[in-house]
Amino acid sequence: MNRIEADVLIIGGGIAGLMAAEYLSSHKNVIVVTKFSAEKSNSYLAQGGISAAIDKNDSWAEHLLDTLKAGHHHNDQEMVKRLVQEGTEVVHTLADWGVRFDRNNDGSFMLGKEGGHHRNRIVHAGGDQTGKKVMDALFSRLNDKVRIINHQYAVDLVIQNNQCFGAYCKDEAGNLVFFHSRHTILAGGGYAGIYATTSNKYGSDGSVICMAYRAGVELSDLEFVQFHPTLFSGGESGGLITEAVRGQGGILVNSKGVPFMEGVHPLKDLAPRDIVSRRIFEEIHIHGEKVYLDIKGITNFDKKFPGVTALCKKGGISIEEGLIPVAPGAHFTMGGIRADHNGRTSMKGLYAIGECANTGVHGANRLASNSLLEGAVFAKAASQSILSKSEENVSVPFPFPGLETFSQNNDLSSELLSEEHIQSVMDKHAGICRNQKGLEDASDRVQLNTLNPSLINEPLSVIKRFNMQTMAWLTITSCLKRAESRGSHYRSDFPFKQNDWEQKKIIRSLQHDES
Ligand code: SIN
Repeated sequence: MNRIEADVLIIGGGIAGLMAAEYLSSHKNVIVVTKFSAEKSNSYLAQGGISAAIDKNDSWAEHLLDTLKAGHHHNDQEMVKRLVQEGTEVVHTLADWGVRFDRNNDGSFMLGKEGGHHRNRIVHAGGDQTGKKVMDALFSRLNDKVRIINHQYAVDLVIQNNQCFGAYCKDEAGNLVFFHSRHTILAGGGYAGIYATTSNKYGSDGSVICMAYRAGVELSDLEFVQFHPTLFSGGESGGLITEAVRGQGGILVNSKGVPFMEGVHPLKDLAPRDIVSRRIFEEIHIHGEKVYLDIKGITNFDKKFPGVTALCKKGGISIEEGLIPVAPGAHFTMGGIRADHNGRTSMKGLYAIGECANTGVHGANRLASNSLLEGAVFAKAASQSILSKSEENVSVPFPFPGLETFSQNNDLSSELLSEEHIQSVMDKHAGICRNQKGLEDASDRVQLNTLNPSLINEPLSVIKRFNMQTMAWLTITSCLKRAESRGSHYRSDFPFKQNDWEQKKIIRSLQHDES
């Protein structure tokens, strides 16, 4: 087995991973491993932007309030404060690092609006190409400074005495590499990809979350899965229609042309995502309607939204007709690895930042465009925490066991469902509308006998399916435990918030399981 040493191993090449690499690179030997390649991270595909209280009439306090309202006050208020207070600095840092955000003629940032925001506060680049522009700037900055190794699927953490010393990864050919590090940062994204209808094109199988779970690290809030209201439903290709389209005046209508968000919420089409998605779900599944985004009122649509225009064209929809077919789908996962204000997890030496982490910033439903912001803010916090540590206290033990000590599993694959089967169970029973019977049925289907096998000697295809099925089981059992509705977690058998659940989290780990 090949062994590669680093001071810091970062697993994941989205905004959180790359910004952490940038902050650490002048002091530490950093290695970033990614599952695919640069262009396939969710950050790269992000259309909307970064929310920050930049407007002179705006304030972090108002951004905080919108974040808490969208999150149904399940948020950790101190964490949210930290997030929103740093918004302006994040935008300026990225601009200094070369991101060319869209600007007005006077040089000020052009600010868009998205769901749940009471003000225009979304900074964007290239119209709807924000993720690409941010990531391209980060890549060119990191060039030569940090080693980025693509196509490395992280299999298991390397643990000794409840301390993490890196990870075992497999490349596409199945070769195992032992990345041996003093500090390990998990920045590998969420689990919206365990659903069939999803905006997450690549991966998002929750692999880093499952890996942490197998190592006994605490997870929380897994029942909170965000369904974005407007996935493109006009063709096979899928994809997202950014909420910024509704921010520019796009309106949701049914097949009869009736705008149905009127009277549902004061912000109408720009209500928080959980509310809009549930209303669309009702229109489609209860009233048997089709749903469209009416864009007739938006001038210069193709200039403002070049990515959406290309997506529609690819799906055979002409934007001149003014109606884009849409439906909700899994987009972002609020739950994940429990992490504190510095990204520290319940295991020494192990950090989690970005979507794979659950710091409490998003509560029960994330506010639009707070995700790139989260990645950036906690990348900085985790990096500063690592840089403040005295290395003498962290010894890196060696040798570690060789491959021969990892047991072979007796035909693990026979326990596993296909990826498509897992995704269809999740869509059907753990989607926008859940109930006990459906969740119990789903739980029976995805239940695993072996929760903590050694995966090192398994082929990649088995490891991926094992992760997806574990993630599905963890999500479903968390959904079953929360016997109320809150934010993105809607139970038709418990349709209201329950006071006893106020601020209560469902926490899971192999060591304990509490609510
Ligand atoms: C969008 O552009 O609608 C998605 C951005 C986000 O997930 O916040």
